[in-house]
Parts: sequence; structure tokens; C-alpha cells
Amino acid sequence: MTRVPTAIPGLDELIEGGFIENDVILLTGGPGAGKSTFGIQFLYDGIKNYGDPGVYVTLEESPARIIRNMWRHNWDLERPIKENKLRIIRANPIAYGRYIKESAKTEGITDVETATVENLLKQIFTQVKEIGAKRLFIDSITSLKISSDETTVRHMIMEFIKNLENFDCTTLITSELHNNLENFSVEEYLSEGVIRLHVTRVGGNRVRAIEIIKMRGVKHDEIMHPYAITDEGIVVYPSETVIGKEADVFESTFF
Ligand SMILES: Nc1ncnc2c1ncn2[C@@H]1O[C@H](COP(=O)(O)OP(=O)(O)OP(=O)(O)O)[C@@H](O)[C@H]1O
Ligand SMILES: [Mg+2]
Repeated sequence: MTRVPTAIPGLDELIEGGFIENDVILLTGGPGAGKSTFGIQFLYDGIKNYGDPGVYVTLEESPARIIRNMWRHNWDLERPIKENKLRIIRANPIAYGRYIKESAKTEGITDVETATVENLLKQIFTQVKEIGAKRLFIDSITSLKISSDETTVRHMIMEFIKNLENFDCTTLITSELHNNLENFSVEEYLSEGVIRLHVTRVGGNRVRAIEIIKMRGVKHDEIMHPYAITDEGIVVYPSETVIGKEADVFESTFF
């Protein structure tokens, strides 16, 4: 099995060298956990260090804002865009979320015929093929779940992930954490791997820890390790653990 380096320092050694090529991996975490930074690093360093073209689908932030914020890490996203190695697709979360035509009509949404998951998939696929992308980042799948009907949402997410599996790309999808410990979301079951970014407070300090929840076909690490968001991006400390009092906090807190 070919491995795809994650481009996150310290992470590959927790998962036997990287993601399995063409897998769909889910990254979950609360607000500000570093999900977008993680995914953009996966793409940006994927281009720079491994020559893998990448596609970024943003359902939340505008491309201009993303490009601006990533300057903070000295990542010049405009350059790979000009070189046709990176594409940023801005998808409208509201339109795609209004999957049910009837409710869309009552909300006065007129582009419902084209704003479907099928069309979003087609749009992504076109960009992937145009630049020969090897890495794909969808940020975030939660934005697609606007419908209040659970069955519709489940069906839509299933269809979305199943299709992405055939794109010949190693795909990272972000999802927001729900605050119910007992129920996992459909995307957590459907993805080949799930990585969780935990953020909590210990004695007034913010503590960040990364956990590999699952990684099918991989003998992965099962311990929570600290990670940091630095000027260079996300860094994982694989030989350090979140111990003692902090571990207890993580056990009892769900972020
Ligand atoms: N150079 C830096 N050093 C330390 N922390 C930084 C640096 N740059 C950004 N951050 C932190 O990264 C956070 C933003 O990370 P990011 O946008 O990737 O999170 P996210 O999980 O995608 O959040 P959201 O759920 O809001 O989309 C900021 O809130 C800030 O705390
Ligand atoms: Mg984000």
C-alpha cells in the first residue's frame, strides 16, 4: 500500500508513515482547533515537498480570507494557484444544504436545481482532473448538513463520501465536533480514518491534543499527543503525552 505523507511534522510516525493513498480521512475538532490549517498544510506542503497537486473546497471561509490568513504561516497560496498546482473551490453551503427542493422553494432559493450534491461533486471532479490533483481537502462537511431531516442528511453525506472515494485522491474532510459523546456522526463511520483535535483548558492554559480515533488497515498509535499551531503550521509531538491532571481533564471533557 502506498503511503501519502501527511506533511504534519510528527504525525506520520503515529500512523505507520502516512495516510493510505486514496483514502478518505476525517478531521474533527472544535472552533479554532486548527482543522483548516491542518488541511491547507496537507495541500501546501504536499505540493511543495511531494509535488502532489491539490484541490481545496471551502464551504465556509472565502478564498481571499484563507489566502490572507495563511500568510501568517508564510504560505503563499497564490503561487501554486498560478502554477496550476492548487485550486480553491468556493461552494455555497446554504444552497447545497438546501437539498430538499420543497423547503428551498419556501425559503425563496432559486438556484436549487443546480445547487445539488451531484453538481458539487462534478465541480470538484472537474478541478481534480484539470490539474491532476492527488490531494483533496473539503472544509467542512458540517456545512452540507443544513437540512433538519436526519435521513436526508445521512443519505447526502453517504453519497458525498462514497463518490469522493472514486476520485483517486487522498482526501481530508473536516467536521465540527458535536457535543454528544454517545452518538458518532455518519461521516465518522464512513471515513477510512478519523483524527480528532482536542482543545481544553488546564489551570488557565490552553492544552491541545491529537488522537487517532481510527485508521482502517493501519496499526496506529492510540495515545493522545500534544500538538501546537505555530508560525510554521501544525506540529505534533509524538514522543510526548498528555499526562496526569491534563489526561483526567481530557477524559472528562469533550471538545
Ligand atoms: N502563528 C500562530 N501561532 C499560534 N497559533 C496560531 C497561529 N496562527 C493561527 N493560530 C491559531 O489557529 C487558530 C485558527 O486555526 P484554524 O482556522 O485552522 O482552526 P479551525 O479548527 O479551522 O477553526 P474553525 O472551526 O473556526 O474553522 C486561531 O484561532 C489561532 O488560535
Ligand atoms: Mg476552519
